[in-house]
Amino acid sequence: MIRPVIAGNWKMNKTIAEAVDFATRLREALGSRDDREVIIAPPFTALQAVAEALRGSPIRLAAQNLHEAEKGAYTGEVSAAMLSEAGCACVIVGHSERRTLFGEGNERINRKLQATLTEGLQPIFCVGETLAEREAGRMPAVIEGQLKEGLNHLTADDIGETVIAYEPVWAIGTGRTASPGQAQEVHRLIRDWLGQQYGAGRAAETAILYGGSVTPKNISELMTQPDINGALVGGASLDVATFMEIIQYQ
Ligand code: PGA
Repeated sequence: MIRPVIAGNWKMNKTIAEAVDFATRLREALGSRDDREVIIAPPFTALQAVAEALRGSPIRLAAQNLHEAEKGAYTGEVSAAMLSEAGCACVIVGHSERRTLFGEGNERINRKLQATLTEGLQPIFCVGETLAEREAGRMPAVIEGQLKEGLNHLTADDIGETVIAYEPVWAIGTGRTASPGQAQEVHRLIRDWLGQQYGAGRAAETAILYGGSVTPKNISELMTQPDINGALVGGASLDVATFMEIIQYQ
């Protein structure tokens, strides 16, 4: 049984002071509850301060992106080792906003996944099709291509350290969520693919999160689906009370 994972992707929101305040209040609200794995992904600038605010709590800290190189002349970029030192346990890799707004392709994302794993951090690897791809009947090919190229060179042990997030691009920030059935279909496809590549055991143990307009209203129904193991939440993760409602879904 995979413990449900609820991860909050804050994107480019919250100052350091706001982030610390959020983390402090979330920690208090969560108490000793440990049947849900909770992750928050603040912007780079707030990571270290949030790590301090979360010290000793079960809430895990994630970065939203990284650079694949160890160090060097990459102005404006941040390495896996820097994130680890700042207190991160996880990194979101391959988010659709990185793919579309910042031109990250599968090969680059693959190098980022390898850098994340080499540093001992847990990747939250995002895949998802656009509306045009879905409407053209290309969803399965797009998802499989992202998995195949994104996970290239990764071993079964690496997969054991990796969380996957299915985020249909047409559902991100649009208020238009995939129906539980639509999401389940893709989660099943991802798990079947993982099973073929890495064995059924690994596939069954891999947490596959759904992301795209998740709210307190739709989380319970999404989580009834057998292959949905959690959620990657954007907009609804910015308010402690709303995020707590999602964490506490029944
Ligand atoms: P959203 O974002 O919940 O605001 O749709 C999800 C994401 O981009 O991870």
